[in-house]
Amino acid sequence: MSATAKGLILLCRPGFEPECSAEADVLAKRAGISGKPRTETNSGCVHYVFDEIFDWKLAQDATPFHALVFARQRSVWVERLSDLPTEDRATPLIEAIEALGVQIGRIEAETADTNEAKTLGGFLKRFIPHIERALSARRILRNKADLPTLHLYFKDSSQIDLGLSDPGNASPWPMGIARLRMPRNAPSRSTLKLAEAFDALMTEDERVQSLRAGLYAVDLGAAPGGWSFQFAERGLHVFAVDNGPLADALIQTGMVEHVKADGFNWRAPRKQVEWLVCDMVEQPGRIAQLVADWVATGRCKRAIFNLKLPMKKRFDELKRCRQLIDSRFKVHGDSYVLRIRQLYHDREEVTAYLAKIHPHTLPSDKQSGR
Ligand SMILES: C[S@@+](CC[C@H](N)C(=O)[O-])C[C@H]1O[C@@H](n2cnc3c(N)ncnc32)[C@H](O)[C@@H]1O
Repeated sequence: MSATAKGLILLCRPGFEPECSAEADVLAKRAGISGKPRTETNSGCVHYVFDEIFDWKLAQDATPFHALVFARQRSVWVERLSDLPTEDRATPLIEAIEALGVQIGRIEAETADTNEAKTLGGFLKRFIPHIERALSARRILRNKADLPTLHLYFKDSSQIDLGLSDPGNASPWPMGIARLRMPRNAPSRSTLKLAEAFDALMTEDERVQSLRAGLYAVDLGAAPGGWSFQFAERGLHVFAVDNGPLADALIQTGMVEHVKADGFNWRAPRKQVEWLVCDMVEQPGRIAQLVADWVATGRCKRAIFNLKLPMKKRFDELKRCRQLIDSRFKVHGDSYVLRIRQLYHDREEVTAYLAKIHPHTLPSDKQSGR
């Protein structure tokens, strides 16, 4: 017996429910699944409700996590428990989990990222270990890394949605929130954005290949230097392009050359660098074109960049940026990988990773100029 899917549970940055709903709808329809998004403004959560129920693994594989931009976390929704009695919420929950007939490797307790939901923190700290012990005793919770994760989404303490995801097909962080420590000496908090992007958008192999001492990086819109700092810390040489001032401590590392120039026109003094990163505050379409040009012409091997989205039609704007990138690569029929995500450290923006793919190394998420 295997659990059946009612829909998807998607967590997002509060305020981005329309974009999260729209992309879930596009993804589901593309996979031939009919359904509808249900959400409330600023709730930080979208339920995508399927019109028919079917096997949870099929639902998961048809809606891969890596294809979503605005969902910080997504699990396949398999059950809802409402009106749980205050005196004993645990028994009905344990019975419902047992009835799923699925062995699990771990439990993630989730809420929306709202102030109201945060008040559940104390209750969850006491409640979840109790549930874990009960499920371990029943041999439903096993200490095995390849078993599915059970997501318990608490709307409040009386309503819980049960979700499932396989490891590798969901965010590895609870609620998709990367809790990173601010490094000492970093020139700006923005440094965390690039640190999160390395983790969220790249594979381990890609990080090992590209974040090595001695390689070169270009940072467009670098000041005061939070992104350059991430490279300097790892021993990469950085051309930091910005008319604004860089932090003294960063210059003193000896790894960063400050270039006072316009990032749209400047050319690196080397034929190819490993990295281009770009955090210039500019229209997203201009940034997408600029970065696509660097990667497509081989001036850099890979890029991470921010697209600052407009207040309205954010989903459409993102689609337009994807099309601009696609048409730049189509010119030579090259293949590329493009991964986009609204990171925890992003606000009104999304962060993207773009790299050209050489024919002998085709990752599963490749896009192609055919
Ligand atoms: C959000 S800040 C960058 C923060 C930086 N990533 C950090 O971690 O400290 C944007 C920067 O882009 C720079 N900028 C905007 N337009 C630019 C352009 N055309 N050329 C170079 N820099 C530009 C601004 O001067 C500003 O310092």
